[in-house]
Amino acid sequence: MNILVTGGAGYIGSHMCKRLAEHGHRIAVIDDLSTGHEQAVRWGEFHRGDVGDGEFLDRVFERFRPEAVLHFAAKSIVAESVADPALYYRTNVAGSLRLIERVRKTPGCVFVLSSTAAIFGRPQAERIDETHPCAPINAYGRSKLMVENILAEYWAAYRLPSVSLRYFNAAGADASGAIGEAHTPETHLIPRILEAALGRAEPVRVFGADYDTRDGTCIRDYIHVDDLCQAHLDGLEYLRAHPGCHAFNLGNGRGFTVREVLDAATRVVGRRLAYQIGERRPGDPAMLVADAARAQQILHWRPAHPQLETLIESAWRWHRQRAF
Ligand SMILES: NC(=O)c1ccc[n+]([C@@H]2O[C@H](COP(=O)([O-])OP(=O)(O)OC[C@H]3O[C@@H](n4cnc5c(N)ncnc54)[C@H](O)[C@@H]3O)[C@@H](O)[C@H]2O)c1
Repeated sequence: MNILVTGGAGYIGSHMCKRLAEHGHRIAVIDDLSTGHEQAVRWGEFHRGDVGDGEFLDRVFERFRPEAVLHFAAKSIVAESVADPALYYRTNVAGSLRLIERVRKTPGCVFVLSSTAAIFGRPQAERIDETHPCAPINAYGRSKLMVENILAEYWAAYRLPSVSLRYFNAAGADASGAIGEAHTPETHLIPRILEAALGRAEPVRVFGADYDTRDGTCIRDYIHVDDLCQAHLDGLEYLRAHPGCHAFNLGNGRGFTVREVLDAATRVVGRRLAYQIGERRPGDPAMLVADAARAQQILHWRPAHPQLETLIESAWRWHRQRAF
């Protein structure tokens, strides 16, 4: 297939491109390099530009003729979305709408959205399945939910087939060590721990150790980036057989506390890692864990790397030798 990957210079998008190339697909990447890295674009043709630029999209679509668009490009830092919601609505909503409109004008083209657990807001259950109420508590979550809603209406009105994949906490890196997680600033726990272990960042601050969890620190569901890529392949296959508007929660269904992640990282790195206990951050739920049974039943998707240590080992390989 001809597959257009927006945000293909970013963390998850670059892993997706590698996987698509391994499966023999033709790839084009759109990325404005606002948070991504040109060195991560190693598979397929690269078009530098903004997903919100209609004329740019026209040029890429006319040349490449995509049969599927995997839309990773977005702003995705919760605190930034609170401080600058305009950036989030402009990029994540207006930009996505421009792209979806272009897909609508491309007969036979299907759309896959990188969505997020942030669309759910405060968890009302131990594990979050697709029936959980969507009540996002920040502009990031709201922006992604708006795009999901647009996709539902575009299926109902125009028959534009789509899948929204709600990732929980993406983590890990490609086994080669050639690509990996490289955000600036880095807000995610595992890369922050590993960069601190390498002396390239301050010791990690644990935001709150007084939560009602087994050791007082927050519980999150870490899902390997390769497993997320597999879910995209499964989602595309499903979409071709069952055109519609679909949504799946993607996680391991098992949560780890911040202290458990630190302990696992200590075992991987082979030495004790310093950290500080800080205040809780506003809006951080104690526990955020996916119920991914629907993806397992319908897409036949199973995480292949559910073990925390394996996941951290893959990230460690990347961080020790990272090229960008
Ligand atoms: N990393 C996670 O844990 C996680 C969890 C849930 C959802 N997501 C979603 O997955 C997607 C990818 O996340 P990531 O961690 O790889 O982020 P990332 O920042 O590494 O990648 C995003 C890419 O999009 C590009 N981009 C941003 N705005 C653009 C624009 N207007 N036009 C063109 N390109 C643009 C950036 O340059 C970057 O390369 C995002 O949509 C994010 O919301 C990520």
